[in-house]
Amino acid sequence: MAVRLSRTFVLRKIHQLTGIMPLGLFLLEHFYTNSKALTGAADFNNAVKDLQSIPYILFVEIGGIFIPLIYHAVYGLVVTAEARPNNLNYPYPRNWFYLTQRATGIILFFIITVHDLNFRFGMIPGLNTLSVAHHPDQSFAIVSREFNMIPIFIVYMIGIFSTVWHLANGIWLFLVDWGITIGERAQRLTGYACIAFGIFLLAVGINAAVAFIHPGGLLGRFM
Ligand code: HEM
Repeated sequence: MAVRLSRTFVLRKIHQLTGIMPLGLFLLEHFYTNSKALTGAADFNNAVKDLQSIPYILFVEIGGIFIPLIYHAVYGLVVTAEARPNNLNYPYPRNWFYLTQRATGIILFFIITVHDLNFRFGMIPGLNTLSVAHHPDQSFAIVSREFNMIPIFIVYMIGIFSTVWHLANGIWLFLVDWGITIGERAQRLTGYACIAFGIFLLAVGINAAVAFIHPGGLLGRFM
């Protein structure tokens, strides 16, 4: 007998899947490329140049990043609008994680929109009108100039923290929802693994951002 899946179920599963792949994978790649700034402007600029020389890069970006991101973001906002937080009645950690997943989603929606218009497209008059992707020889200088403005750097710190929290908690949700971690003990242990992964990713993300304002990042003096 054929199993009929409801439309909401399928839309929800696609939403969950896009969060892990390609968006989660893209975040790892993004932090890796940003970390090239740790060894100096030339290395970062070359990394941007290498990315831009990927064959069919525009189609890779549209199909692999923009479409999944727009789907995940818009459907995520719909899910958030339907949310019924019950934290005051049930103050358990999981209820707070439910709320923070939605709160970080809203923060990400605004920060990623501005971040893309700013660095990828260079479309924020008064701040930056040069696309980092199309000016690889100036990529480091463009980012560095902005990160030296304290309010902008703070916004990026909030963005990095929110993205990492959203992804680390999202991986846990995904593993439980897709029936990969079953049972209380397995879910507790994967919870610890996601926290460890989140702390590691946060350190990598912040260190890469600091490398644009301080040579070598946070450990520059020691390495
Ligand atoms: C751009 C704005 C974004 C919004 C509005 C948003 C919203 C949401 C919401 C509301 C959920 C919870 C869904 C549920 O519990 O059923 C969620 C889950 C998730 N999101 Fe996002 N998100 C955004 C961006 C991102 C990004 C950039 C990533 C990857 C780095 C990501 C990765 C995930 C993952 C892995 C999940 C867990 C999937 C699951 O529930 O099984 N999201 N998102």
